[in-house]
Amino acid sequence: MLTGPRTLRASVVHSQFDVHERYGGVVPELASRAHILAIDSAASATLAEAGMGWGDVDAVAVTQGPGLKGSLLVGIEYAKGVAAALDVPLVPAHHLAGHLRAPWLETSAGFAEPRYPFVGLVVSGGHTSLYRCDGPDDVSELGRTLDDAAGEAFDKVAKVLGLGYPGGPRVDQLAREGDASAFWVPRPMINKGGFHFSFSGVKTFIAQHVEREGVPSGSALRDVCAGFQEAVAEVLAVKAVRAARRGGLETVVVTGGVACNSRVRSRMQEEAGRYGIEVVVPPPALCTDNAAMIGAAAYAAAARAVEAGARFDGASLDARATWPLAPPAPVAGA
Ligand code: KG4
Ligand code: ZN
Repeated sequence: MLTGPRTLRASVVHSQFDVHERYGGVVPELASRAHILAIDSAASATLAEAGMGWGDVDAVAVTQGPGLKGSLLVGIEYAKGVAAALDVPLVPAHHLAGHLRAPWLETSAGFAEPRYPFVGLVVSGGHTSLYRCDGPDDVSELGRTLDDAAGEAFDKVAKVLGLGYPGGPRVDQLAREGDASAFWVPRPMINKGGFHFSFSGVKTFIAQHVEREGVPSGSALRDVCAGFQEAVAEVLAVKAVRAARRGGLETVVVTGGVACNSRVRSRMQEEAGRYGIEVVVPPPALCTDNAAMIGAAAYAAAARAVEAGARFDGASLDARATWPLAPPAPVAGA
């Protein structure tokens, strides 16, 4: 719930990890069902946390895509119901535009105001994309993962190491006590492929190690986690900072679930610091998926609609499961 472009009154996130944990990843049908069961109580809890009622809502923002169609539809149909009942504008937002807008939200940790143009790195379970952002609605893609997203690699590596799901935070925790130099992992595409990424090879590298040597434990496990994490963090940092230097940009914004990773954050700072480039990373709770960032991405359009006295006319809004934020950057040799 936002009461200004950056004023976050309440944020409620209903996690589904317990639903998917035994399968080691997200099961689409279970995800939609869990959304149906949670959405109304999550919305009521948000209003209660903000100390507000339905009558205080001037506009409703909703994720239109990209993502799992079933889950998107649950959100869209619920948002339509609320907006129609209140007769207020329904404003769609792009999931990744939300991630990129997250730094602006004010929390107890403060807020940031990255200055355009900047390089935006969205790094999550479903995406690893590098953008040049010239304005909130003026984004071009510089590169993306050509196979697995970085978060997906964290989750798959965690699975082969027997760490459960979601793996990112568990690998991060173990890696903090490990020695990255004791277990070297290749840095995929670090000096080729332009600004594109590839993370399936690192996952395979770890899986083959486990096949040969068995699942490590104790300090060997911590070293494998640290070595893997170091490789991912280095590729992300080197490519994002290189993109900023190439474009003459002074700021790199890193967002998405993997931006919570301790080494991704510190390695990015190290790399950017060498060239006097500023790194902006939202607080962890705003890096992982949340509704506040969707409100932030939709805020300007919502404010315009309210100002113009617009009423509900979103009955035909449909989910866009596949929806690139910007035209795909070419892949050399493709
Ligand atoms: O942005 P997000 O919440 O959802 C997507 O849009 O995908 O990102 C979730 C991903 C998962 O793959 C999770 O393992 C990863 O972010 N993640 C982390 C950490 N915290 C979450 N990966 C590495 N280190 C972390 N501390
Ligand atoms: Zn996300």
